[in-house]
Amino acid sequence: MRHGWISLTCLVVFGLFANGLFAGVACADEPDRSPISLAVSGDGRTCLTANHTSGSVSLVNLKDGRVESELAVGRGPADVVWLDETTAIVSLLHDDALAVVKRNGGKLTLHRTAIVGDEPRGIAVSKDKRLVYVALGGEDAIAVVEIAGLLTAKSDGQQPGAVTRYLAPGIPKMVRVSPDGRWLVACCAVPSAILVYDLTTNALVSERRLFDGAFNPGVPAITKDSGLVVLPHAVNREFSVTPQMIDIGWVIDNRISKLPLPDGEPSTQKQLGLDIRGNAVGDAYAAVFSPDQSLLVVTAGGTHELLVIDFGSIPWPKGDPGDFLPAAMQKDKSSFRRIELGGRPQAVEFIGERTVVVSNYFSNSVQVVDLDAREVTQTISLGGPSEPSLARRGEHIFFDADRSMHSWYSCHTCHTDGHTAGQVFDTRNDKTYGTPKLTPSLRGVAETGPWTWHGWQTDLHDAMKRSLNESMASKLPITDEDATAMVAYLKTLDHPVNPRGDTKDEALAKKIAAGEKLFTGKAACASCHSGTQFTSGETFDGKVEDKKDRDPNYNPPTLRGLASRRRFLHTGKARSLDAVLTKHHRPEDLVGESLSDDERETLIEYLKSL
Ligand code: HEC
Ligand code: HEC
Repeated sequence: MRHGWISLTCLVVFGLFANGLFAGVACADEPDRSPISLAVSGDGRTCLTANHTSGSVSLVNLKDGRVESELAVGRGPADVVWLDETTAIVSLLHDDALAVVKRNGGKLTLHRTAIVGDEPRGIAVSKDKRLVYVALGGEDAIAVVEIAGLLTAKSDGQQPGAVTRYLAPGIPKMVRVSPDGRWLVACCAVPSAILVYDLTTNALVSERRLFDGAFNPGVPAITKDSGLVVLPHAVNREFSVTPQMIDIGWVIDNRISKLPLPDGEPSTQKQLGLDIRGNAVGDAYAAVFSPDQSLLVVTAGGTHELLVIDFGSIPWPKGDPGDFLPAAMQKDKSSFRRIELGGRPQAVEFIGERTVVVSNYFSNSVQVVDLDAREVTQTISLGGPSEPSLARRGEHIFFDADRSMHSWYSCHTCHTDGHTAGQVFDTRNDKTYGTPKLTPSLRGVAETGPWTWHGWQTDLHDAMKRSLNESMASKLPITDEDATAMVAYLKTLDHPVNPRGDTKDEALAKKIAAGEKLFTGKAACASCHSGTQFTSGETFDGKVEDKKDRDPNYNPPTLRGLASRRRFLHTGKARSLDAVLTKHHRPEDLVGESLSDDERETLIEYLKSL
């Protein structure tokens, strides 16, 4: 039934256990599939899932409720689109590549893969099917790739025919083309913004910040007339992280924003709060309209549910949307419904007027949901281990908003996908109020103790308990086993491959080498940022101005993965590495050496390669 290396693993295990053990046990070592995105075929009969942790795609027959075929495509499938009935494109986050998948009846084959750029995630196809747009989070750009070139180029790994790149500052994650084919909408994470490009002129026509504090933009929906974009996201309310503030939704809440396309004054942006007091929505993620556009459906990964909203009945508030879903919508069950799905619902698409299909990351399945009956009518398993591993159990906790008081948010909300949402929060780790700190990335975190900015946490296991207790005000009991599982999960978080690390560009490689010399020599950065992780077991005064903090000493953050961060230092005040070194953390203040502009630029090229 399945193809590629996954069934092989299964067979090998089967062979070993052939004496007396049955196939179910033999396949227990199957990987989790973790479908993070899906695309329904034009005839609505099948869908293709991007299986994030197994490096495969599955062709799912929605009529018969079974997997027709599975194909290994590469590392970290993140998004998938169909070009036509026989060809699909998949983005590979950890291979910096696109995969072209061909389908013949129920069979899938890998046509080719092609390098496209750093950290490709969301993909969209132009209306005339000539171009594919790929959000490159690591490059702050959208790659515009000619499909003809992508399909015909011969050897694997070869660059596809990239037509151009649109600049997209702020880690673009998701892209969508408007139904009329005119606009490309890109959602950027840090700072959170919606960018709109006119595809007839290739020009960026609007760059709008979401309302203050909005972060973690999800997957947008666009109205049929191409006049509006609707986007789920979280909001940082900027109050201290205390049980009282969490309770009333003043730490983080969950909303959708509505913005006119292509552009509009800030006053035309409207927000709607989705939360209900005592029973909030966690990690609202992907939005989609029903075919008749009467319903807006939103997945909420943290609270394991679908939100079904009667779009026409939303009383869009004029200014501040307040803390909760409007009272009128809370009372009227036809205007706002919640359907429990379990697991972690991610992508959603309509396959009928009132039927959706959802990719569920944690349940390794595709679910078909009848919105009128409010129930899951089919759960189609993509395969996975019979028992979750220890790390997978930790991952469940990490993404589970029910672990926070009243389900407002999860660890993932602040440490997005184990990285960082780039937000500052006044957590109580540092035992003070009014001293908000930038959320650190957790990539490679197991290697970079002691933890927290002040380096006060020396045990990661204990730190997990504190995070659950304090950052989340968890009402559930916190067991040792939970903490052990979470540490096991954190150990799986690594930095993505950095293409600057072994660049073929000779001029750049030279600069990087010269930058390294400065780092270890004249600028003496290595005296504090040392070892393979470029950190230290000690704390130092980094000369970053912060009058309120009671301890001037900080543990140097790892410099690995700097290229994928957009805010720096414990205050988050620096928005670029140049700002770090010229304004807040200056070599002249640290080691009494000043750098020329050229030297600083060279040093930064090196820092970005780590
Ligand atoms: C409200 C946002 C928020 C939530 C929710 C949150 N964190 Fe954090 N986390 C932070 C901030 C801010 C810091 C830095 C605190 C400091 O240094 O004082 C931090 C620090 C950490 C650190 C130390 C990292 C380092 O490199 O020193 C770890 C580990 C961590 N968090 C894990 C978790 C886990 C696990 C959860 C869920 C149980 C969680 N966090 C929930 C915001 C958050
Ligand atoms: C005296 C020890 C020390 C020296 C020398 C030093 N640093 Fe740091 N570095 C730190 C500390 C401590 C922090 C955290 C400071 C804070 O946020 O308050 C830091 C933070 C940083 C950050 C921010 C990282 C992030 O993710 O927020 C960068 C980048 C950085 N250092 C680069 C350098 C470079 C480049 C040099 C050499 C020019 C250098 N540092 C020299 C101690 C040092």
